[in-house]
Amino acid sequence: MAQLWGGRFTKETDQLVYNFNASIGFDQKFFSQDVKGSIAHVTMLAKQGILTEQERDDIIGGLKSIVADVEAGTLKITGEYEDIHSFVEANLIDRIGDTGKKLHTGRSRNDQVALDMKLYVRDEISQLDQLVKHLLGTLNHIMEENLHTYMPGFTHLQKAQPITLAHHMGAYFEMFRRDRERLADISRRMNLCPLGSGALAGTTYPLDREYTAKLLDFDGATRNSMDSVADRDYVIELLSALSTIMMHLSRFSEEVIIWNSNEYQFVEIDDAYSTGSSIMPQKKNPDIAELVRGKTGRVYGALISLLTTMKGLPLAYNKDMQEDKELTFDAIDTVKGCLALFDGMLATMKFRSDVMENSAKHGFTNATDAADYLVNHGVPFRDAHGIVGRLVLYCLDKNISLDQMSLAEYQKISPVFQDDIYQAISIKTCVEKRTTKGAPGAMEAAVEENRRYLMED
Ligand code: ARG
Repeated sequence: MAQLWGGRFTKETDQLVYNFNASIGFDQKFFSQDVKGSIAHVTMLAKQGILTEQERDDIIGGLKSIVADVEAGTLKITGEYEDIHSFVEANLIDRIGDTGKKLHTGRSRNDQVALDMKLYVRDEISQLDQLVKHLLGTLNHIMEENLHTYMPGFTHLQKAQPITLAHHMGAYFEMFRRDRERLADISRRMNLCPLGSGALAGTTYPLDREYTAKLLDFDGATRNSMDSVADRDYVIELLSALSTIMMHLSRFSEEVIIWNSNEYQFVEIDDAYSTGSSIMPQKKNPDIAELVRGKTGRVYGALISLLTTMKGLPLAYNKDMQEDKELTFDAIDTVKGCLALFDGMLATMKFRSDVMENSAKHGFTNATDAADYLVNHGVPFRDAHGIVGRLVLYCLDKNISLDQMSLAEYQKISPVFQDDIYQAISIKTCVEKRTTKGAPGAMEAAVEENRRYLMED
């Protein structure tokens, strides 16, 4: 048991208590952030004359040698240390002796862990952002190739109006674009450095907190030392943004699963992204999409967990807050995995444009356009709606689509119909004539705008 405290204790910690309390099993994940924070801290301490330049150099040299050994595998991070902070400090003292004991001057584990978590979250946000951006690139590529791939658009999972695959993919593009904006907002808002807040009440050493903040690429130092050590808002915001990403991925997965079903056959998931059944030889299952949909619950769980953990905590630091780590790490890793896998599945998926177009033709998705045709010929919309309703009933009875009716059949229901009705209700017309901003006929411009956006950063 290697602990950073013990002076006021007369008994050894019970082993079970030690195990229950220890966080080394998971906080080793931010080992490199912990060292980075320490290097900035001692650099500032030396600048302020709190440490000598020699002491600073010895400490930084020691810290760097620890990192090198951990990376080389010659130094293992083991359970004999209570947490990653103790691991680093104990090893430093081992290596450089008493000078190592000065590392923790003007610092508490409360502001240290607040810093480590922030640095970790900030690094992860930029990786998440790159993954979402890559997915956006895949989506825009599919859009570009499918500007004229017709398919039914649905409401209530009932065929509604014809759209294009580009239009459908474009909807997801917008969702994931907003997800990136949310991540960027969080990065910006959280980017104040808590180091130097001490346990809760700051310190009497003449720290230059703004300087430490600058060394660590923060926009400045946090404004209230109690808030600094008690704040996990940014983690909650991240878990909320991750939950929204998962919600989007899950809806998308649900559609892929439906589209991949025997009944729809709109898409074919690549063999590399499908799995078989141990008993039914004919099966090719959309497991990746199902797993992404399934893992969504786990990420929502992390958000609710942390909100619940934080809700009753008096200021400032409480050990309950150690619970933020495992669930946040798990949520981040889960979302990163889901983004990468979903992206790969999407990029290799085959879209069956013939099946999609056929489906659009056989679901009366052009009924609204037939009504619009009548309106354009002077029939009030409400009457037109009724007339087209009768057309649909007639087709259902005969098991045909609107474009399979003869002109005589049309005119029996309304004499307003002329030969140009076929042109007016063709799927191509229905889609391509809808050119208002955001509509299926305007996706070429959307693809262009998306491309410009993706080039921005
Ligand atoms: N392992 C702790 C955490 O994750 C670090 C801070 C410990 N501070 C303390 N006063 N016990 O929150």
